[in-house]
Amino acid sequence: MAHQLLQGKKGLIFGALDERSIAWKVAEHAVAEGAQIVLTNAPIAMRMGKINELAAACNNAPVIPADATSIADLENLITRGMEHVGGKFDFVLHSIGMSPNVRKSIPYDETNYDNFLKTLDISALSFHKVLQTAKKLDAINEWGSVVALSYIAAQRTFPGYNDMADAKSVLESIARSFGYQYGFAKKVRVNTISQSPTVTTAGSGVSGFNAFIDYAEKMSPLGNADAEQCAQYCISLFSDYTRMVTMQNLFHDGGFSNTGVSHLLIEDLNRLNGQ
Ligand SMILES: NC(=O)c1ccc[n+]([C@@H]2O[C@H](COP(=O)([O-])OP(=O)(O)OC[C@H]3O[C@@H](n4cnc5c(N)ncnc54)[C@H](O)[C@@H]3O)[C@@H](O)[C@H]2O)c1
Repeated sequence: MAHQLLQGKKGLIFGALDERSIAWKVAEHAVAEGAQIVLTNAPIAMRMGKINELAAACNNAPVIPADATSIADLENLITRGMEHVGGKFDFVLHSIGMSPNVRKSIPYDETNYDNFLKTLDISALSFHKVLQTAKKLDAINEWGSVVALSYIAAQRTFPGYNDMADAKSVLESIARSFGYQYGFAKKVRVNTISQSPTVTTAGSGVSGFNAFIDYAEKMSPLGNADAEQCAQYCISLFSDYTRMVTMQNLFHDGGFSNTGVSHLLIEDLNRLNGQ
């Protein structure tokens, strides 16, 4: 159901690890909608993942490794990326998240602070670094669109989400603060999409993830949004139809964020209580 919404646009996509990744789906949809893309991921993920498969399916998109916490890597990526596409970018997807504390199952109230700093650097400050480097290199066209992916643990506590919750709060704040700067300076828009829990490598690392998914499914009038649907929403934000949307955190969650309790959950609780 492609509509050539991104015809002639050039995009930079961070974070496609394997076919479950949200960024993978965004890359596929962006190309189907007429965009030319550059793919990137951390050097280690390149070795573990399947990004070259994706590149081949995306009109042989160039793949340029970059650790998103390294300014030198980002400068190299953006400079070489612009050479590849022959100009500035029109859209950027930041689809990056990692918490060493989550990975090592270290509880939030016994956190390891070196790990915590890494979580913040990889999952939140990297967004600032991408934006600042792009702005410095004047790498995004006017009315360009930058999107990062977030989760509702930025607003409400989901204990298993650990220090990623703090990282997402910072990420969403960066979208507002940098969106202000980039909007006035270059008419570039910056938003975050707060996505339903989705089965991916990053998602599955969160403790109790299956329960997250079931709970959210039952609490969402439309059900959980999947990675494919998230990609479609990203495309709409990269398109010219959303040019006045910036500095927002946009919930893409089937209604979860505005639901207090659902009849499905009440029925489950009643069953548990033998009623
Ligand atoms: N899966 C979910 O339930 C869910 C829900 C809401 C938001 N999100 C967010 O969506 C985004 C994408 O995650 P996903 O679910 O597609 O999982 P994923 O594991 O497929 O993607 C995470 C990506 O981050 C990359 N990454 C990690 N460290 C990096 C670094 N230093 N430099 C560059 N890249 C690095 C990984 O290589 C990987 O490609 C993340 O921000 C995640 O928090 C996911």
